Formats: sequence, structure tokens, C-alpha cells
Amino acid sequence: MDKFVIEGGTRLTGDIYVSGAKNSVVAILPATLLLDVPCIIDNVPDISDVEICLTILRELGAEVEKTGEGTYRISCENVSRYTVPEAQARKMRASYYFLGALLGRCGRAKAAMPGGCNLGERPIDQHLLAFETLGAYATLIKRRNMRGEEYVDAVELETDRLTGTNISLNVVSVGATMNAILASVKADGITTIENCAREPHIVDLANFLNYMGARISGAGTHKITIEGVPFLRGNVAEGSVETRTYSVVPDQIEAGTFMAAAAATRGDVMIHGVIPHHLKDIADRLRECGVRVEEIENEDIVRVYVEGDKRFRATNIRTEPYPGFPTDMQPQMAVLLSIAEGQSNITESVWEDRFKYVTELRRMGANIDLTRDGAIVWGVPRLHGASVKACDLRAGAAMIIAGLAAEGATEITDIYHIERGYSHIVEKLRGIGARIQRE
Ligand code: UD1
Repeated sequence: MDKFVIEGGTRLTGDIYVSGAKNSVVAILPATLLLDVPCIIDNVPDISDVEICLTILRELGAEVEKTGEGTYRISCENVSRYTVPEAQARKMRASYYFLGALLGRCGRAKAAMPGGCNLGERPIDQHLLAFETLGAYATLIKRRNMRGEEYVDAVELETDRLTGTNISLNVVSVGATMNAILASVKADGITTIENCAREPHIVDLANFLNYMGARISGAGTHKITIEGVPFLRGNVAEGSVETRTYSVVPDQIEAGTFMAAAAATRGDVMIHGVIPHHLKDIADRLRECGVRVEEIENEDIVRVYVEGDKRFRATNIRTEPYPGFPTDMQPQMAVLLSIAEGQSNITESVWEDRFKYVTELRRMGANIDLTRDGAIVWGVPRLHGASVKACDLRAGAAMIIAGLAAEGATEITDIYHIERGYSHIVEKLRGIGARIQRE
């Protein structure tokens, strides 16, 4: 079984580069189905979730060509299928973006319910609300699990015509906001989406689509307006034959993960290719712990370092939709808090089951109690190496940080979770002095 082996106790120092954002690209790749001409996308991270998206595109009939490191030319002109291949759909949570994109493209879409990280119940009622409000008819194919409970196994959508309308989401959801955008870009008339999520990847999806000829405004606020267009001309500038390339936004969570790793190892790391204001809340929490975080003026760099040998201070974190503290940084931050002095409280307000990593972190000496909606972390002076597993993507990232900060050797299994979302993580960390290898 593949694993990461880490020899802990080394300060991370030097320069590290952030890749394109996983949570953007997994929506942008399905969005290429809405285009009527080929497009070129770069800064695409080398992660297995991207591989799955590209396989789905190919199986639907798209032509996908890798033209350089992280650069793809995608042409969906010959796509005529509307069913997402089941095996691929089940491998990745974000396969649900193909529902919105295919519905927007051809008025029909079918997909098995997605897999991905198991963070507790992950309903898609808000996605369906958006599709149905736009005029789609949704059929839910249900099955029963071993306990006899009914669950939705697949979704089929159909419509004669998508019509611009007002969609008011009941829950702030990244996925539902993105799917509502995908389905309404080519609808007749004007769509408004209220109570939207505001994450950077939502802005990135809107930027990508606008770059291709869509008319979306308000992304990054609570209300998005989409003026439907009959076709998207692709990234060929109007009146020109020059094809422009769209670059995926830097990954906020990968950057945050490197920040936490630099801090927990008491290192000094320059993290390149970031958008500093995406990292504000993460930086603020790190500063509360006594970590120095400096944004380098006018450059896409953030420097994270620790001075002196005082223990980190405890602090409290509460996960919230952007611009609050991201739930996808909660496990990584918990590692730092587990070696801080005193008691820290973590409140998780997005996912009900995001604490599976606690059992693993306890194996390394952390002292954490679980509460109804969070955890209390009683800081210990140090963690020690152990055999642990990556329970999900961000839990896996937390295990890496813990292994780097701990005394002794750590072995992490189930690393496929980590490789879903972190591009060349071993090489990147080795570049700043980590003693980590893949075996
Ligand atoms: C995305 C990210 C995930 C991140 C999450 C929150 C991807 C592929 N995944 O997930 O890494 O943890 O944002 O930043 O981009 N909800 C409903 N009904 C719905 C949809 C969601 O009740 O139809 C609830 C969920 O149960 C959860 C909350 O809304 O409590 C947030 O979910 P959402 O923002 O949709 O997360 P994802 O888009 O699945």
C-alpha cells in the first residue's frame, strides 16, 4: 500500500510555489462543456481529481490535449452524451458540476451520486432547487443501504428550456452556487442567485465563464446576476483569431496548508503565487498563535516564520463560509493548536463529521476532546511520530503537518485522499527541507 514516510523535527525553510485551485478547476473543467469552440486553460494542478474530470470529459466525447505542464486544450464541440460515466462520477464529489454543465449545454444530464470526502451528510437539495427553479425536471433514483435507509443513488435532469429566474438558496453552499451558475449561463433571460457562497473559486468560475463570453456579475457577493447568452465564443477575443489562455486562480487551501506547515515546524517559508487577501483569516489566526505572517508588498508572496522559542499561544477557531475561517483548513490548524500552550476551542459550523483526524492525531500524542459541534484542544509540548492514516483530503494534509512537526518517524497510509487535491506535495515539501518520501 502506498504511503508517505516522514522524519519529523526539521524546520521548513525556503521557497514553495502554490498550484492552481482544486476547488476551482473541478468546476471550470465541466464548464468547458458550455463552450461552442475549443479553449485553453493553464495553471491546472496535477491532482487525481483533475484526472477524473478529464476522463469524464473524454468519455462524454470531448477532445482533451495536454499542451504543456498544467496546460490543456479542451474541445467539447463533438460532445453528444449527457450521462456522466458512473465509475468516474462516484470517485469524486465535484462530479456533480457535470450535472449543471450538461443541463446548461443540452438540457439533459444524468449522474450517479458522488463520492469524495466523507464529511457527514452531504445533501444536494440546494443544487436541485436551483435546477428546478430554472425549469428542469429532476428524477431521483433511490436505493436502500444495508441499514434499510433510503438514499439518492443517481439524479437525472431534463428540460425543454431553461428560463432565467430568481433562485434563492436556503443554505450558503459552494456547490449549489456553482451549479446554479453553470445551469443558467445559457438560459433564456436573466437569473439572479441569492444567498450565494462567496469563495474565491466561485469568483474564478465566473471569471472563466465571462472570459469565454458569459455575462455574470456579482460573483464574490451574496447576489449573483447572470444574463443568459445563446452561445459562448470561447477565449478568442472578439474580432480576433488570437486564442487567450485562462489561468486557474491559486489554491487558497494549498497555500494555507503550507502556512500551517511552516508555522508548526517553526520554520521560515516564502509561499509564492498566492493571493494574500484570500488568506487573511488564516493569517490572522496564525498571528494569534504567535506566528509571524507577512504579505510581501505588490508580490504574490506570503512569508510565514516563527521567532524565538516560545510555545505557540492557544486560540479559538470557528469555521464559516468565506470570508470566514475555511472548514478546509480546520484539521491543519488543529495540528498547530495541539502543540500550543493552553486550551483552544474549535467550532465546526460547515460539516458535521470533520473530526475523524482526531483519532489519528491522538496516536501522535495530541490531547483533544470532541464536543457536540467541535473540539477542545489541550496543547501538549510536542507530538511524536506514529502510524496514522489520511481519513480524508484535509485530514491527510493535517497528518503531514503533524508528521513534519513531530519527533521521530511518521507513516501515513491512504494517501490517495491527499493526492486527490495536492499537486506534487512530496517534491514541493522536500524543496523546503522536509524529510518526506512516498513509498
Ligand atoms: C465545497 C468544497 C469542500 C469544502 C466546502 C465548504 C468542492 C469540490 N468542495 O464543498 O472542499 O469543504 O465547499 O467550503 O469544491 N448543503 C446543503 N444542501 C446542499 C448543499 C450543501 O444543506 O444542497 C450544506 C452542506 O451539508 C454543508 C454546507 O451546506 O453543511 C456547505 O456545503 P457546500 O458549500 O455545498 O460544500 P461543497 O460545495 O460540497
